[in-house]
Amino acid sequence: MHLSVNIDHIATIRQARKASEPEPVLAALLAEQAGAHGIVCHLRGDRRHIQERDLKLLRETIKTKLNLEMAATPEMLDIARKVKPDVVSLVPESPNEVTTQGGLDVIGHKKHLLAYIPQLKKAGIRVSIFVDPDRPQIEACRQVGVDLIELNTGKYAEARKDRDRQKHLEEVKRAAALARSLGLEVHAGHGLDYHNVRPIVEIEEITELSIGFAIVARAAMVGISQAVKDMLALLTR
Ligand code: PXP
Repeated sequence: MHLSVNIDHIATIRQARKASEPEPVLAALLAEQAGAHGIVCHLRGDRRHIQERDLKLLRETIKTKLNLEMAATPEMLDIARKVKPDVVSLVPESPNEVTTQGGLDVIGHKKHLLAYIPQLKKAGIRVSIFVDPDRPQIEACRQVGVDLIELNTGKYAEARKDRDRQKHLEEVKRAAALARSLGLEVHAGHGLDYHNVRPIVEIEEITELSIGFAIVARAAMVGISQAVKDMLALLTR
């Protein structure tokens, strides 16, 4: 199973102070050094975390695979065609959401996607859609000509009761099998953490996970002791 690390929330910390650190590009390089198979970032219309400067530097520096999450807008098409990430993941985006809410409505946006996706492919970019584990939506992904899909594990991850979690896990399993049978490469992500990732890893058809928040949250915790020690070392007279 491959891991792509989403570094958006390193940029969230930086943007909280409009400072120059922590540097998401350095986080990406360290993630690669630790063995990550790819780096993901989401350039949002409101630029709340990742900036265009980050995207350009990531393209110049990382050696694995750059996956740009973006909304299917004309602005983002221009940026993607210039920067040429290895993969573009099309996601729904609304200005007031805290994080991506659900998969893209591929059926509802089919006409737009049929015109939009070939323009990315012409630029040599592989195209993915973030989609709910729902049969008709996955079939529509095949029809709009994407190379791969990322199954939304959000409902599985958020489920509090065992019964609900199991139900959503079964949905992800069925969706992965369907997508694979349609010839799509299958990735998954959203809300995965150190406690809930194992059952998803067992799904054979899924070849890559995209994980961000849990890794950044853990990095802050495992790094805090060293950070305090480094500061204390400067406080001696
Ligand atoms: N996949 C997609 C499409 C996302 O939008 C996000 C969140 O930016 C992720 C995966 C990663 O989710 P998380 O940060 O919860 O690991």
